[in-house]
Amino acid sequence: MTRTRLLFAGADEYLATFVEAARTLPEIELLPYEPGLDLKGIDYLLMWRPVPGLAAALPDLKAVFCFGAGVERLLVNPDLPAHVPIVRMVEPGLTQVMTEYILWQTLRHHRRIWELEEAQAEGRWAPHWYPAAWDRPIGILGLGELGQAAARKLLDFDFPLRGWSRHRKDLAGVQSFAGAAELPDFLRGLQILICLLPLTPETTGILRAEHFALLAPAASLINAGRGGHLVEADLLPALDSGQLQAASLDVFSREPLPPDHPFWRHPRIFMTPHNASDTNPASGLREISRQISRHRSGLPLEHVADRQRGY
Ligand SMILES: NC(=O)c1ccc[n+]([C@@H]2O[C@H](COP(=O)([O-])OP(=O)(O)OC[C@H]3O[C@@H](n4cnc5c(N)ncnc54)[C@H](OP(=O)(O)O)[C@@H]3O)[C@@H](O)[C@H]2O)c1
Repeated sequence: MTRTRLLFAGADEYLATFVEAARTLPEIELLPYEPGLDLKGIDYLLMWRPVPGLAAALPDLKAVFCFGAGVERLLVNPDLPAHVPIVRMVEPGLTQVMTEYILWQTLRHHRRIWELEEAQAEGRWAPHWYPAAWDRPIGILGLGELGQAAARKLLDFDFPLRGWSRHRKDLAGVQSFAGAAELPDFLRGLQILICLLPLTPETTGILRAEHFALLAPAASLINAGRGGHLVEADLLPALDSGQLQAASLDVFSREPLPPDHPFWRHPRIFMTPHNASDTNPASGLREISRQISRHRSGLPLEHVADRQRGY
């Protein structure tokens, strides 16, 4: 069997789990990148944070697999030759865990869990009222792999669902809105707004005051897209005025978020450290192996990022 050499670079914190997972895939030789490594004969690269100069130094590079679903950092990497395809990570583990996160946070906002936590901390017996799921319109910005998977789970709970994408979708139970012109109608009256967009020039800053103002009063925000989607300066005034009741943030304009950032201590912001979802080492590598064998047999790679549209 010819083993494919897959160079692992730019995600050192995940290296050990990937090396372990690669042991179950005899067709893949996972090579941790280290300076001085002979780069000849390496066809495929698995990368998250671009390693300066690395892609350009791989004479036989055929494709780059992005460690995550969002490829914005790789797309602006000047080292990546234009003819080398960049493949987004689409794999069942990543999708499943993101769906869990969206469900977890949606129910947190739907049931206003923080009121119960505060009452418990004070030893207060305080039953509270919340609307039926079918009276709580939810909108998902981004109806791609992750947005659609999350929508399917939320539909099980009978939330009225809207989705926003560039192209109209035909997804049973989801009202589809497409393009910038339909964004105001998509947002109007939503009680929970979920962001699962890629970061592009068009989507940067989409979570801002002007758009919060179109939501229902005391709406909730869940951002698991990228930090650049949120205009951070608009969030605290929206929370403090009651325009928004609470926010769940997994991603930030600066990561790690500095310890003195006001988001850490705001009682209505629930934060996770950009791990709403991660690529699962075993299923992620199986997916890469499947793609490589397609590619080797002359079939096109799937989930290739479009450099023009930016995702
Ligand atoms: N926090 C985390 O742990 C984590 C983990 C994984 C991913 N993410 C984020 O989730 C994002 C989505 O991943 P995915 O796999 O679902 O991506 P995807 O399959 O490419 O889906 C992207 C969706 O966004 C829509 N979109 C893009 N630009 C738009 C625009 N200008 N206007 C309207 N809609 C637009 C696309 O519309 P069309 O369908 O019409 O093309 C598509 O529905 C990633 O890019 C990343 O930022 C975060």
